[in-house]
Amino acid sequence: MASFSFIPFLVLLHVLILFNVGEGGEMVTMDDGELSGLFEVMGSLLDDPTWAQVHPQPCTDTPWPGVQCELMAQEDGSNGPQDGQQDYNPTIFHVTKIHIGSDILTPPCKPNASLSSKGLMKLPFLKTLSLFNCFNVTPVSLSSSLFENNSLSSLEHLALVSNPGLYGSIPSSLGHIQTLRVLSLSQNKLNGEIPQGICQLVNLQQLDLSYNHLTGSIPQEIGKLKTLTIFDLSYNMIGGQLPSSFGQLESLQKIDLGFNVINGRVPQELGNLNKLVLIDVSHNFLSGPLPESLSGLKQLEYLVIQDNPINTGMPLFIGSLGRLKVLSFSRCGLRGPILTSLSILKNLTALSLDNNSLNGTVPSYIGSLPNLEQLNLSQNQLSGELLVSQEFIKRIGMRLDIRGNNGLCIKNNTSSSEVKNPISCISSRSRTGGKKSSWGGEEHKDECGNMNSNLYQRNWSTKIHHHGYEFSLGLGQMFLVMILLLL
Ligand SMILES: *[C@@H]1O[C@H](CO)[C@@H](O)[C@H](O)[C@H]1NC(C)=O
Ligand SMILES: *[C@@H]1O[C@H](CO)[C@@H](O)[C@H](O)[C@H]1NC(C)=O
Ligand SMILES: *[C@@H]1O[C@H](CO)[C@@H](O)[C@H](O)[C@H]1NC(C)=O
Ligand SMILES: *[C@@H]1O[C@H](CO)[C@@H](O)[C@H](O)[C@H]1NC(C)=O
Ligand SMILES: *[C@@H]1O[C@H](CO)[C@@H](O)[C@H](O)[C@H]1NC(C)=O
Ligand SMILES: *[C@@H]1O[C@H](CO)[C@@H](O)[C@H](O)[C@H]1NC(C)=O
Ligand SMILES: *[C@@H]1O[C@H](CO)[C@@H](O)[C@H](O)[C@H]1NC(C)=O
Ligand SMILES: *[C@@H]1O[C@H](CO)[C@@H](O)[C@H](O)[C@H]1NC(C)=O
Ligand SMILES: *[C@@H]1O[C@H](CO)[C@@H](O)[C@H](O)[C@H]1NC(C)=O
Repeated sequence: MASFSFIPFLVLLHVLILFNVGEGGEMVTMDDGELSGLFEVMGSLLDDPTWAQVHPQPCTDTPWPGVQCELMAQEDGSNGPQDGQQDYNPTIFHVTKIHIGSDILTPPCKPNASLSSKGLMKLPFLKTLSLFNCFNVTPVSLSSSLFENNSLSSLEHLALVSNPGLYGSIPSSLGHIQTLRVLSLSQNKLNGEIPQGICQLVNLQQLDLSYNHLTGSIPQEIGKLKTLTIFDLSYNMIGGQLPSSFGQLESLQKIDLGFNVINGRVPQELGNLNKLVLIDVSHNFLSGPLPESLSGLKQLEYLVIQDNPINTGMPLFIGSLGRLKVLSFSRCGLRGPILTSLSILKNLTALSLDNNSLNGTVPSYIGSLPNLEQLNLSQNQLSGELLVSQEFIKRIGMRLDIRGNNGLCIKNNTSSSEVKNPISCISSRSRTGGKKSSWGGEEHKDECGNMNSNLYQRNWSTKIHHHGYEFSLGLGQMFLVMILLLL
């Protein structure tokens, strides 16, 4: 990211040298009002009272890594010569990005950092405002006036992330910033409800409000956000039911509502979202049955339902989701048999059905899913033999857990053709102290520490964050291209 902030500067400086200088020999740089706005904003954030003196020309001669500018043609009559000379080509620098975070080598925000709405108002060309880990000590809240009176009218990317001092509610006036494409207010202490105003942000592509203290429910008007690709409300206290208007979010790729208190049924309209790659609704109070329309989610790779009182049989639609990689129905009150139709899930790497009331035998295809690396069937009422090959055991190792069932055992299928297999089936019905090998009291006791079910979760959530990262990188590149075009 750091390199991204510098490349435009090199280009801009280079161009500036070639550039015309004004009559008095003065370079055309930037508007005084904008400059003072920038000074006010930086002054309210940074622990450096001399910032303005050290960076008198922040767009050109005295740059700062967290500030970016773009050269733009001036609007007619704003600052150019009055006589309308043809060959005068008035251009000017505008501040387009302010970013403070640990990825750039700058001094940290001051303990009593705040956001100067007066200063921001003077930066009408600002496209990106991102402050990571800035408001740490003195409590700061987002004032409604920040987004009023046509201020921040060019803002596309607002990221105020990981600020333990940022509290209070999200102002509804945020909805005035129609240009907004990315809104991330993750990992703060924001509370109150999701304001209706957010549903006016019709150009929004990413909405991340995760890890806050938000309450209330998801507004029905959320369906207006037709270009939304990422929707993340995880780790809040959002309740109520999922609105059926979710079905209108036709660009959605990722929806993460995990760790909230949402209740009711999953609306069947969710099945319209044929671009969805990830659904995580874990740790809520959703009840079953899940709508069979979810068979329409042909791109789905991650389906994480765990810890919801679904209390039905295993839903049949799972057998249509051929791209699934991770399927978790742990602690969902599932009962009856394990579906026989999952053999088509060739890409499945993690299957978690633990702590349900599943009964009957385990279908034999499970032991031959070619990519399975994690299988948890523990704490059910399963019985009979689970046929596995030597290769399967080698691949899955300690990430196979069948403890706590009704006499479910594992059969080494490698030698099954040879009748003389003395220990064909090892019962798993032992009283498990948690230290036993998952598949029936064999070796590897010491590796049990690696077996906790969070392991793979952490891995795939890292992947997903990378996914989000790709998006922002994409924006960065777009930004660069725009600068080059403008030159
Ligand atoms: C922030 O703290 C500095 C001293 O560290 C002080 O000079 C300044 O007035 C304070 N600003 C605000 C807005 O409280
Ligand atoms: C916005 O405009 C209203 C009326 O035009 C004014 O009263 C208010 O002070 C302005 N807000 C800010 C933050 O300047
Ligand atoms: C399985 O994954 C591979 C590689 O990611 C992909 O090319 C293939 O299309 C996937 N299979 C299905 C059925 O989606
Ligand atoms: C199974 O889930 C119940 C609640 O649904 C919980 O109390 C219990 O501890 C869980 N058992 C295991 C082994 O995780
Ligand atoms: C599974 O449990 C249900 C009751 O919940 C019972 O009707 C059914 O016979 C059981 N099936 C097997 C194979 O034990
Ligand atoms: C078990 O072995 C039989 C015969 O060798 C084979 O047809 C079957 O696919 C194997 N099952 C698994 C789960 O490996
Ligand atoms: C399974 O059987 C094969 C062939 O008899 C043997 O080489 C292998 O060690 C056995 N694996 C386990 C885990 O018992
Ligand atoms: C399987 O699930 C049980 C119960 O939910 C849990 O206690 C155990 O750690 C899990 N096993 C693995 C290998 O993840
Ligand atoms: C998870 O990622 C760690 C490294 O971050 C790696 O060592 C581990 O093998 C991965 N586990 C799985 C199940 O992929």
